[in-house]
Amino acid sequence: MLTTKSTRGLLLGAAALCSLAGSAFAAESLNIYTTREPGLIKPVLDEFTKETGIKVNTIFINNGLEERIRTEGENSPADVILTVDIGRLQAAKDYGVTQPVESETLEKVIPAAYRDPEGHWFGIALRARVVYASKDRVKQDKITYEELADPKWKGKICIRSGQALYNVSLFAAAIAHMGEAKAEEWLKGLKANLAKKPSGGDREQAKDILAGVCDIGIGNTYYVSLMRNGNNEEQKKWGEAINVILPTFEGGGTHVNVSGLALAKHAPNKANAVKFMEFMVSDDSQRIHAEANSEYPVKAGIPIHPTVASFGELTADNVPIAEIAKLRKKASEMVDKVGFDQ
Ligand SMILES: [Fe+2]
Repeated sequence: MLTTKSTRGLLLGAAALCSLAGSAFAAESLNIYTTREPGLIKPVLDEFTKETGIKVNTIFINNGLEERIRTEGENSPADVILTVDIGRLQAAKDYGVTQPVESETLEKVIPAAYRDPEGHWFGIALRARVVYASKDRVKQDKITYEELADPKWKGKICIRSGQALYNVSLFAAAIAHMGEAKAEEWLKGLKANLAKKPSGGDREQAKDILAGVCDIGIGNTYYVSLMRNGNNEEQKKWGEAINVILPTFEGGGTHVNVSGLALAKHAPNKANAVKFMEFMVSDDSQRIHAEANSEYPVKAGIPIHPTVASFGELTADNVPIAEIAKLRKKASEMVDKVGFDQ
């Protein structure tokens, strides 16, 4: 367990030694604070160390990552924040624990829609929020998000909590497309179609479809690949029970979200941190990342995991992620207002 003060003390000590010993030493470490599962990021971190010689210390924090860095203040050893969903990236920025990065590489590789216009966060991979449809009971292979509120689906839809990060972002996208009043009606319609109270994670929606509890579920793309290709025999069955339909907004595309990076405000190893951020959009790292996580690479021309590719061609929605970030608060309030989770 890393304790902040002593770690920073060690780091400062190391930095002092390094400045005496020359720059070769100074380039030796990097501290990543992450919410991501260790197994998912290890392959890419190992590759970074192999290519640069920079040792990576990873601190996994599932909840309260932003608060922790803020509490650590100027003594925080955090260099890079690696997390998922615009909700968390924006939270880090809003907590004041990030600093802007100017990097030609990041700006060239990452489309403007997937990074903060002020440079505080950068999307490195994409996930789409899609429909899991029962292979046995759903015949159609196209759907709009709007249609999820159609009474024809009454009692047939399963979804996790409306306040879950991924859903709040999806509902924010709905507000961007429909405007507040219509989005609220839509959310009420979706709630009226639920087979049961929102619960579980995305994988459980596929489980419920297999069990016949519902015909369609809402979930992220990568879970389907992780379920089908993982070692858990139960989950394999869940993954095989469903088809993925890539829904679109009327006049738009499929809602995508990012997993991404930010540079910590008081990063003690700033140069290494920027090097790492740029490494994360290199061909090698994008390929490894896409393979390990089944996310869509943010960089053009990198192959998509075959399972994810089998879902069909993704037409990403046209609402920039930064817009979604701004509408998340409204979306979250709307979830409470319509009693979505009740
Ligand atoms: Fe997830």
